Amino acid sequence: MKCLIINGSCHKGNTWRLTELVKEDLLALDATLEFDEIHLKDIDLPYCLGCSLCFRQGHTRCPHNNVVQGIIDKIDECDGLIFAAPTFNMHIPAVAKNLIDHLSFMLHRPRYFDKKALIISTTGAVGAKDATKYVCGTLIGLGFNRCFQLPISAISYNDYQPSEKHIRKCADMAKKFYNALKSEKLHSPSFSAVMTYNLFRGISRHYTPGYQYATYDGTYWDETGLVKTAYSPQVPLPFYKMFYGNLFYWIGKNISKRLVVTYK
Ligand SMILES: Cc1cc2nc3c(=O)[nH]c(=O)nc-3n(C[C@H](O)[C@H](O)[C@H](O)COP(=O)(O)O)c2cc1C
Repeated sequence: MKCLIINGSCHKGNTWRLTELVKEDLLALDATLEFDEIHLKDIDLPYCLGCSLCFRQGHTRCPHNNVVQGIIDKIDECDGLIFAAPTFNMHIPAVAKNLIDHLSFMLHRPRYFDKKALIISTTGAVGAKDATKYVCGTLIGLGFNRCFQLPISAISYNDYQPSEKHIRKCADMAKKFYNALKSEKLHSPSFSAVMTYNLFRGISRHYTPGYQYATYDGTYWDETGLVKTAYSPQVPLPFYKMFYGNLFYWIGKNISKRLVVTYK
């Protein structure tokens, strides 16, 4: 099994120390686990320009796709993603947000239905829960099936020494994450994941080729066949969530009839 670690920081600080602990715990559970790392400070990803070409014409048209594609390929290849980012002003740092900006087109075109994630953040005192919750919400929107969160108060700027309690917390979280990967079991998505998926599924119907403001969203949902189902068919979906999803599909379709997103 492959794990990709994204270091969403410009240095290897407290958060990286904790991430290495989790990595050691995972390797103790299974020495055959393969790890790959992306350190965002090393990859020279320019700021998202906000050109919206990814939304409108597909992510391959992003002016930074020479860098972004490499990251997408690595996420595609992994079974589990570990996203580590410190808490800066109750949020993730700019370097991590910049990556999320470059991937946010996938909220319109979710794809990572068989993947699981673990989000790690350390904070001086407060805000780590907000940071991990934000990343988790985004990844669930991208289709991730499960998302574990490890927010920790380090009470230190650059000299975090994990306490026994934190060491145990890391080991517990590593075990949960590993078991989720090992089982390969896909869980029924949350109501909010079903709602987001279906709103975009519905909205996409007014952006298919031929519409005045066609976007790649319209093509994607047809091309993948996802337009036909209230969630990815890979993932179990109980009848009541299917009904709920189809309701939001209908709402999305009707909203986009009246609220057309324009571009020039
Ligand atoms: C720019 C900046 C912003 C920060 N914002 C917060 C904050 O909002 N709340 C807090 O409790 N600590 C804050 N801190 C402290 C860090 O969250 C804390 O030291 C964390 O463990 C740093 O992780 P790192 O060493 O991986 O960068 C901030 C530190 C920096 C440098």
